[in-house]
Amino acid sequence: MAKIISKKEIAPHIYSLLIEAPLIAKKAKPGQFLILMVHEKGERIPLTIADYDRERGTIRMVFEVVGKTTAMLSKVKEGEELFSLVGPLGIPSEIENYGTVVVVGGGIGVAPVYPIARELKAAGNRVIGIIGARTKGLLIMEDEMRKVTDKLLVTTDDGSYGQKGFVTGPLGEVLRSGEPVKRIWAIGPAVMMKAVCEVTRPYGVETITSLNATMLDGTGMCGTCRVTVGGQTKFACVDGPEFNGHLVDWAEFINRLSRYKQQEKIAYDLYKKSFGE
Ligand code: FAD
Ligand code: FES
Ligand code: MG
Repeated sequence: MAKIISKKEIAPHIYSLLIEAPLIAKKAKPGQFLILMVHEKGERIPLTIADYDRERGTIRMVFEVVGKTTAMLSKVKEGEELFSLVGPLGIPSEIENYGTVVVVGGGIGVAPVYPIARELKAAGNRVIGIIGARTKGLLIMEDEMRKVTDKLLVTTDDGSYGQKGFVTGPLGEVLRSGEPVKRIWAIGPAVMMKAVCEVTRPYGVETITSLNATMLDGTGMCGTCRVTVGGQTKFACVDGPEFNGHLVDWAEFINRLSRYKQQEKIAYDLYKKSFGE
């Protein structure tokens, strides 16, 4: 179970894993995630199901190495198995025929946006995609996104590819152009999702964001992933991870994301030291 079929570094420090997981592949829907453990003594980390193939019984995860566990995951070899893989978790994206929709993915956020865009397209929507990265080399899944969107706009912060600047630039242009946008999905770093919500708020277009809150059990029992949405406490793992971004308490969310920075740094530094990295 959970055998790594293939592992590719698709951009510096960003890996795509194809995993044999027929039961998960059978049930997976866009917007859902998994919780995995690399080995018996490792921590549990959530990763989005970036793709699934029901016939082949495989799922894909795309992740960025940001600390100890993702570094360990990047070292797992093809043919090896993960210690545990639980999913699909979370409420799937609400896929309907809305008309015109926009999907925005920033950085590693392009991975979770991809299956949402694909299913929105299959449901008959006109899908406008906007993807961005800091620089050209870090842009992921452009070819896949082109196939599932009617129009794809690309940005890089440094202007090395596509339009210079943030994803909010072309998003504002699309909204100002009078496109009859009915719904927007925006997934990426918290500050990006917050900025997207500020752009879309005056237009009153519902903007769905996926909250990458710190998670532990992923089943609504521990409270680690607590977020405030519309003044109410929600658990991102069971009530989300998607929420109406106009209702999210972004300041609290961003603050809670960095609660364990010190411990994470110690763990990663020790890991790098012990592996001579
Ligand atoms: P650490 O050094 O432990 O942490 C680095 C940062 O990662 C932390 O500051 C924190 O912001 C975040 N993080 C750490 N532990 C957790 C945790 N238990 N749960 C959530 N975030 C944590 N990342 C991807 O690269 N690809 C994805 O598809 C993806 N999907 C996600 C889906 C969901 C629903 C959530 C909640 C998170 C997702 N993440 C994804 C983030 C991913 O879980 C973290 O990058 C990972 O846990 C970092 O582990 P680490 O030990 O390498 O880094
Ligand atoms: Fe424990 Fe959500 S991760 S309640
Ligand atoms: Mg960690």
